[in-house]
Amino acid sequence: MKIDAVTIFPEYFAPTQLSLLGKAQDKGLIDLQIHDLRSFTSDNHNTVDDTPYGGGAGMVMLPEIWGEALDPLLISDADLIILTPAGRRFSQAMAADFSKREHLVFACGRYEGIDDRVRQFYSQPQFANSGVRVHEVSIGDYVLGGGEVAALVMIEAITRLIPGVLGNPESLAEESHNSDGYLEYPNFTKPQEWRGFGVPEILLSGNHGEIAKWRELQAQKRAKKNI
Ligand code: ADE
Repeated sequence: MKIDAVTIFPEYFAPTQLSLLGKAQDKGLIDLQIHDLRSFTSDNHNTVDDTPYGGGAGMVMLPEIWGEALDPLLISDADLIILTPAGRRFSQAMAADFSKREHLVFACGRYEGIDDRVRQFYSQPQFANSGVRVHEVSIGDYVLGGGEVAALVMIEAITRLIPGVLGNPESLAEESHNSDGYLEYPNFTKPQEWRGFGVPEILLSGNHGEIAKWRELQAQKRAKKNI
């Protein structure tokens, strides 16, 4: 999979060199490129934003600069993901869909976001016809300082679903038993007793059928409690 992220803070993406994602790049499973939006400016101050038409607080990111940055990335088959708290809520199902795509392009806005004409421009039929799809995505109902952290969250959730990225593919197979795609039951490891707390007897029984039933019940209880 090819992943591009456009940002005014490339340093935010340093953690992508670590752990499974770092290894996946070494293995050639993922080609991740971070692009500095300011490198596409041509004025002395490297301006990327201006005041909003219609007034109001904050600044809006300039469409020209975003156009310069995105044009070379959106030639054919690509999903442009614009990070915004006003976007569609990111989910495990969405992560699974994106993990099957060839090329993801993350547009990380700051301030009051990116001029909406950027979304409008790349949503035109000529882009759709060449395989470019535009998505506005939010990672949750809270406002971050910008889209970088949201892009990191999405990149991590998506790339671990790509075959070969996880060290132990069984983890994925187990997760997929759950319709939401994640494990919800509580887990225990050594020692068998810690600070007076033991491990549920059933997990020591070796009875895999009963263990599976117990885990399912615990998952349901936990899900209910955490709604
Ligand atoms: N930018 C600012 N807040 C965000 C959020 N919750 N999700 C995605 N992008 C954002």
